[in-house]
Amino acid sequence: MTKREFLARIRDWSFGAALIGRTARSADKPAKPFSSYDPLVRKLLAQMTLDEKIGQMVQPDHASLTDPADVENYFLGSVLSGGDSDPKGGNTLADWTDLYDTLQRHTSKTRLQIPLLYGIDAVHGHNNVLGAVLFPHNIGLGCTRNPKLIQDIARVTADEVRATGINWAFGPCVAVPQDVRWGRTYEAYSDDPKLVGELAAAAIRGIQGPDLAMRPSVLACAKHYAGDGGTTFGTGHDGKGFDQGDTRVDEPTLRRIHLSPYVAAIAAGVGSIMPSYSSWNGVKCSASKRLLTEILKQEFGFQGFLISDYDALDQLSPDFKKSIEISINAGMDMVMVTDKYRQLFTDVQALVKEGRVPTSRIDDAVTRILRVKFALGLMDKPAGGRDQYQKNFGSGAHRAVAREAVRQSLVLLKNDHRALPVSKRVARIHVAGKSADNIGNQCGGWTITWQGQSGAATTGGTTILSAIKQSVSGSTQVTFSEDGSGGEGASIGIAVIGESPYAEFMGDRTDLALTTADMDVVRKLKQAGLPVIVILISGRPLIVNDLLPVADALIAAWLPGTEGAGVADVIFGDHKPTGKLSFAWPRTIAANGEAHPAQVLFGNGYGLTY
Ligand code: BGC
Ligand code: BGC
Repeated sequence: MTKREFLARIRDWSFGAALIGRTARSADKPAKPFSSYDPLVRKLLAQMTLDEKIGQMVQPDHASLTDPADVENYFLGSVLSGGDSDPKGGNTLADWTDLYDTLQRHTSKTRLQIPLLYGIDAVHGHNNVLGAVLFPHNIGLGCTRNPKLIQDIARVTADEVRATGINWAFGPCVAVPQDVRWGRTYEAYSDDPKLVGELAAAAIRGIQGPDLAMRPSVLACAKHYAGDGGTTFGTGHDGKGFDQGDTRVDEPTLRRIHLSPYVAAIAAGVGSIMPSYSSWNGVKCSASKRLLTEILKQEFGFQGFLISDYDALDQLSPDFKKSIEISINAGMDMVMVTDKYRQLFTDVQALVKEGRVPTSRIDDAVTRILRVKFALGLMDKPAGGRDQYQKNFGSGAHRAVAREAVRQSLVLLKNDHRALPVSKRVARIHVAGKSADNIGNQCGGWTITWQGQSGAATTGGTTILSAIKQSVSGSTQVTFSEDGSGGEGASIGIAVIGESPYAEFMGDRTDLALTTADMDVVRKLKQAGLPVIVILISGRPLIVNDLLPVADALIAAWLPGTEGAGVADVIFGDHKPTGKLSFAWPRTIAANGEAHPAQVLFGNGYGLTY
């Protein structure tokens, strides 16, 4: 590339970024650039020993800390809770706040008293914590196409995260999935990069607020950079599936599809970005200087810091020290190391002494981390100020925002013979299916546990069945059978079926057919002579060719979260369906892992109303 081309490209990108920033940011004034904290950072950095600097770059899982005093011993800059690492004592709001406070208190015993960033996957609400309000996963939010709503949701999430003291959410996911068989499809807003960029920017404005130092703002993290949604089938985890695989596209394609949401995220002021487990043309993203330093930091002008994914460095080389050298030199600023934190610390010490990692790189990484800590106001007030936010945690006001999000996320795919809306005064409604009375299924993965779980006990909330019961008139009888039997004599049948919870590579599938058990539920309602409404709970489009002739009406409800009342609001016509598909819905899928078929049943943008 000539210098002139390079400058033209920079101008192009920053112009694009400014445009997105302006339209999306609307009335808000732009966030202060992170580099404006550099005078403060330089002063602090000048006082730091090498060990104190290295500590800032180390992020263990709290569950791997053999002793909480290791926060002091290793001058730790950050701690995370992974999807399965609850506080040891329990999983209530109080348990989490105590955990945060305990670890944060240890930083005040260090010489420089630099507070911790505490990171967690608050990806559809504060989803690890019992009683938090859980929102639809991003695929549902994509169908709302409503940036204002997404900003509000993110603000509520920040509020609930702050209630535990925690100051960093590992979201939004800005993946642009190219094949819905990928197990992380539901974490993404859309297969359209423009929509992803627009909604991600809204989420970032909500999480980080107009000013990162303004409570309840928490730090956001755009992930997973880059091309996580474009991997080739068969290159993924354990040599199978899609997840963590290889994205085989040329650079213009990578930019157009997978990089453009990061331009929007940076324009919206995102303070951290998580490089992906996946590779780009055979090179792991966490090892790519081209992606991390040249494109993201130099060309796009990202001033925040990079956090590696969960143990992702283990995949770079069989030699851990070598992996660290490769990744930090490529531009990684903080390492999510989970349990090998002591080794990481001593290996970085050695790499610097051996001249394999330049001190200038360490200084740059720590500068980026400290900029963000200053911007968060963390250096002045590390405490969560929890009392103020705890009263909002799981509140009715927060639930109302989630219920609105559920309504707007539903996409009506079929509605023959005006099966919908259902009158609240029919004599009897027969509800069926494994997900009708199952808060776990309607929340999906990343709910209390990493994989999520089926069942009523998962967390508090309103199931679709209870929402239906609460909505109908006093004279209407609501009956329920999980397998669809017993519908004879009812006025209408409502089947709630679909996928059970999964996360990451565990959700990679070659086949997206409905199960026989699910189809049987629907057929039984039909055989009982009822008009049948199907509510599909799923993290992605499923193959519905067998279902369509049997169902009079079909609603794609995605993974709506804890507020099932939003589904009832649309079933009974209190709110008309407004959601439009944010992904193309396939008619068939190649079972052998061939490229995503071109045959589309419902196009991106499709959605009926009453
Ligand atoms: C996921 C990330 C997540 C991290 C921490 C990884 O396995 O890929 O999305 O933020 O774990 O839980
Ligand atoms: C953790 C998750 C993480 C995953 C990575 C799980 O044990 O709880 O947070 O994403 O491992 O494989």
